[in-house]
Amino acid sequence: MKIILLGPPGAGKGTQAAFICGSYGIVQISTGEMLRVAVASGTPLGRRVKAVMDAGELVEDKLIVDLVERRIALPDCRNGFLFDGFPRTVAQAEAVVQAGIGIDEVLEIDVPDDLVVDRLSGRRVHEKSGRTYHVTFNPPATPGVDDDTGEPLIQRDDDKEETIRERLRVYHGETRPLTRFYEEGAPTLGVRYTRINGAGSVTEIKQAIADALTQ
Ligand code: AP5
Ligand code: MG
Repeated sequence: MKIILLGPPGAGKGTQAAFICGSYGIVQISTGEMLRVAVASGTPLGRRVKAVMDAGELVEDKLIVDLVERRIALPDCRNGFLFDGFPRTVAQAEAVVQAGIGIDEVLEIDVPDDLVVDRLSGRRVHEKSGRTYHVTFNPPATPGVDDDTGEPLIQRDDDKEETIRERLRVYHGETRPLTRFYEEGAPTLGVRYTRINGAGSVTEIKQAIADALTQ
């Protein structure tokens, strides 16, 4: 199974990706997470992309496409994978088609901008694993601490209100056109396109996605 999860910043892509990948035994490929690991480890890629990410802008297409192509060539992707936060521009989506990566399902988590700000300003993450919480909507068992490791949670550098607004602007300009690319192109591309109402609770959205995938 090969799945693309589309949606604005803070839609809950990472949160739902963990559930879907657990159910289907597939690998979560989050380009944002891969880039954050590169930044934290100070690799040449990380040094190149840090300022762009902190400003809420997009990293250049070629870097991202190369990163993804190398990642899906690894053996753990044999059973399938879920793209979280990729593709993010029409050029990246076209690169997926050109590379002959046959996507089965495109799920769009549709969330209005005002909910995004609430979700991202309360987000806390466990840096090493990428596990995600929310101070109110999805709190850890002990405030400020990861459930599995007991390590402290942090706030992402790009979760400041000003950067969230810029990420939303970039989403509407660059990424939103992908909903049309996949919805209208579904028959030609051989994908199934489903829009999920992302305004509910984490559990409601998890159920809506499970229903959509088993239909
Ligand atoms: P990336 O890491 O992909 O960030 P994003 O798309 O902005 O999405 P987020 O991770 O912020 O949100 P999410 O949808 O995963 O939501 P989450 O589950 O955490 O990208 C970061 C940066 O990397 C980009 O800005 C860009 O610079 C670069 N980049 C990455 N990919 C790229 C690409 N392909 N091309 C170019 N550049 C790229 O949930 C958010 C919060 O809400 C959490 O606190 C969660 O607990 C809470 N929550 C989740 N669901 C619900 C719910 N139903 N109700 C209430 N709260 C909820
Ligand atoms: Mg995410």
